[in-house]
Amino acid sequence: MKEIVIAVDGYSSCGKSTLAKSLATLLGYIYIDSGAMYRAITLYCIRYGIIKESIVNHELLIQHLNNIDIRFELNALTGNNETWLNGENVEDEIRKSEVASNVSIVSKIAEVRQKLVAIQRRIGENKKIVMDGRDIGTVVFPNAELKIFMTADPIIRAQRRMIEMTEKGIQTSLNEIVENIKQRDYIDENRDVSPLRKAKDAILLDNSNLTRDDQLNWIMQKVNQF
Ligand code: DC
Repeated sequence: MKEIVIAVDGYSSCGKSTLAKSLATLLGYIYIDSGAMYRAITLYCIRYGIIKESIVNHELLIQHLNNIDIRFELNALTGNNETWLNGENVEDEIRKSEVASNVSIVSKIAEVRQKLVAIQRRIGENKKIVMDGRDIGTVVFPNAELKIFMTADPIIRAQRRMIEMTEKGIQTSLNEIVENIKQRDYIDENRDVSPLRKAKDAILLDNSNLTRDDQLNWIMQKVNQF
């Protein structure tokens, strides 16, 4: 099989990372969660007071941008690629709610996107990569050999998320999650810089009624054409 770049974009809570990760494992490719990079910059902004009450101090962020080093390192025990910010493993920290609720405002900033897109392209120089995000097939790798755009019914996405949250002991209501998902979709689709769009040559995957295995088989059929 030819060595390729696989871009997996789509709405939040569609299972992009689950699919992208399993696919990378199966192919022996690197998996990169580009959302983790936006989350890491958001964490930095919170820690350095660059974001206060959901307002970003743009000038201060620009001053700090060159001091932010983001990389991924493979955890040999779990087999997962973990996110490091300036020499610190922040994989757990970036999943917390304070980061989640501020990341969309940080990911709107053009200079942040420029910096991260440059890093993402460097990581993908040697192909053999599966990267998930919002703009991977449109902006980061417009020439990716295989582009998938994932979507699913918001209610089904909320039900899946509800199960995950209940397992983690987090109490919430289905309505609250549905509203949160719709709001995130709106922000992702309507920001000025690199809004979430299906690339013209991306293949649509609506996984509302598909199991994880169904999705993996579906995508492997596409991959096997290379
Ligand atoms: O995939 P995620 O939920 O971890 O992404 C976190 C945030 O980062 C989300 O608000 C969308 C944004 N994001 C982005 O703008 N571009 C990407 N390539 C990946 C994520």
